[in-house]
Amino acid sequence: MNPLFKSKTNQTQDISTLYSIGVKYAVPYWKWYFWGILALIVTNLIMLQIPQLTKLIVNAISDGGEILAYSNTALSIMLLGLVLIVIRTISRVCIFWPGRALEANIKDDLFCHILEIPMNRFESFGLGDLTSRLSNDVTQLRVFFAFGALQVLNVIFMSSFTIVKMTSIDSTLTTLTVLPLVLMLVLTRLVMPKLYRATRDATEATGRLTNRVTEAFHHVAVIQSSAAMDAFVHRSQTESKTIFDANMRTVKIRNLIFPLMSVMAGLSQFSILLWGGFQVISNRLSVGDLLAFSIYVGMLVFPFTSIGLILSIYQRAKPSAERLAAIASLPKDSFVEHSNEIVASSTPSNDAAALLEVKNLTFAFPGGAKVLTDINFVVKRGSRVGIYGSIGSGKSTLFNLITKLHPPPKNTIFLNGVDTSTLDPEHLRSEIAYAQQTPLLFSDTIRENLILGFDPGEISESDLHEAAKCAQILDEINGFKDGWDTVIGESGVRLSGGQRQRLALARILLRKSKIIILDDVLSAVDMETERQLIAGILSKKSTLIIASHRASILEPCDEVLIFEKGTIIARGPYSAVKDKIANLAATEAVAAREIP
Ligand SMILES: Nc1ncnc2c1ncn2[C@@H]1O[C@H](COP(=O)(O)OP(=O)(O)O)[C@@H](O)[C@H]1O
Ligand SMILES: [Mg+2]
Repeated sequence: MNPLFKSKTNQTQDISTLYSIGVKYAVPYWKWYFWGILALIVTNLIMLQIPQLTKLIVNAISDGGEILAYSNTALSIMLLGLVLIVIRTISRVCIFWPGRALEANIKDDLFCHILEIPMNRFESFGLGDLTSRLSNDVTQLRVFFAFGALQVLNVIFMSSFTIVKMTSIDSTLTTLTVLPLVLMLVLTRLVMPKLYRATRDATEATGRLTNRVTEAFHHVAVIQSSAAMDAFVHRSQTESKTIFDANMRTVKIRNLIFPLMSVMAGLSQFSILLWGGFQVISNRLSVGDLLAFSIYVGMLVFPFTSIGLILSIYQRAKPSAERLAAIASLPKDSFVEHSNEIVASSTPSNDAAALLEVKNLTFAFPGGAKVLTDINFVVKRGSRVGIYGSIGSGKSTLFNLITKLHPPPKNTIFLNGVDTSTLDPEHLRSEIAYAQQTPLLFSDTIRENLILGFDPGEISESDLHEAAKCAQILDEINGFKDGWDTVIGESGVRLSGGQRQRLALARILLRKSKIIILDDVLSAVDMETERQLIAGILSKKSTLIIASHRASILEPCDEVLIFEKGTIIARGPYSAVKDKIANLAATEAVAAREIP
């Protein structure tokens, strides 16, 4: 968290409207607004004095008085101008600061929130769209709560102060000049819904384009090797065209509003000259008063025209708030609602024979067919359970449910007898080290990739070496020019598939968790390395669940479960299911050969 801005909430559920966002993120900074408003009032009061002083000088000239006697008045105008610079700057700083703080805090909160959401809940957004929401949409909110707030306050103070001053000069003239400005407001109000729709379309299309571009960068090799560049460029251009069209709609609407505003402002000046000039000729108004009046109207035009600007800022911020609320309202885990109760009941009871138990587990992804049906098995403390199954038989889904990367159904998975759906995911994951099928590495050094999740200093060099040795990667690390500080490139592109697997494995072994889950992670290593790896992992004495396509890896397991289409079709010690595995492997090999 940025030390300058401290989120006072760190809970993002209710940011569905600009009002709720304001209450949560802007109100805590009310002191800034308070000083800002004070400075703004002073600014306006000073500005109101300038036409009065000008009036004095002009009246003196028109009365043929001694002009030099007014040189002090002219000096005062200059001095007031200098003071204005300072006070106006202070008002800007004070009112813009909460906007910056709000931007930082919302980003912080949403970032933390996203890191805690089970992965399938935000998969539908796409990475580019998520990034676009966290940057563009948060910026819109900042503009609303900083620049928008300043404009609103400006309009309130400027127009009320100025109108009072103008009325004191000539009330009929005030009505005549303000009328066109009010008309301008009504017109603006009428076109705003159109502007809102166009802005929303443009923001959504930007999200889609960002998604497509991010994806293209990620998969650039696939695009190049499939010669799909033209198709990708074409699709991106279609998205760009949508953004262009939506933005052109907003530009057209704005270009309709702004000239209209000038026309209305012109009408106001016209009234001054016509009505005011007539008053001066008939000696009911001095020339100085007319000039002061004209300056006041000039001051009034800006706040009135900026009402249009304020409305357009509002129309941009509203859909942005909705788009961010869609992320903020994604539930984290059932754990969040009753965290106190959970932490108490999660204390591991080391007596339970079953360290992990899966009971009557049936699972389907939202809107999809069943992926797992009636799965039952027990993993005893210190035991080794193997899982064999063809691709798509539900092994990875099972592991994702055990580790709560996908939220598991209630009362189906138990750790130390406690239903994991009620467990704090972080607590659960500290007990289970899970090496996923696709090794996921960060574009950082080897060392940083290994100590992921630990504080520097928490892991000793000897621990690092031991984990790397056990994962059969130590010699290769030592062979790199920069050793442990070798940067492995985006997602580990500078490593071979096998090296990536073993590095990810070393990361798991470093954790010293009670349970180790390996999801087909040894597919890219040769037989000899595999033998040494298995020996190393077994020496860890952790409870082990291992999914593999290679029968040889499952040999040391106490129990092997055979998965097919999400059900367990056979189970038993390796020796009992060995033939079944061989048969399945042969059938699969035949099937693979028959694929045209
Ligand atoms: N995020 C997901 N959303 C919808 N269906 C999924 C998702 N992940 C996996 N599946 C489906 O679940 C089934 C099992 O997949 P998986 O668990 O990856 O099998 P395995 O690891 O045994 O190869 C597949 O049919 C797959 O299409
Ligand atoms: Mg899998």
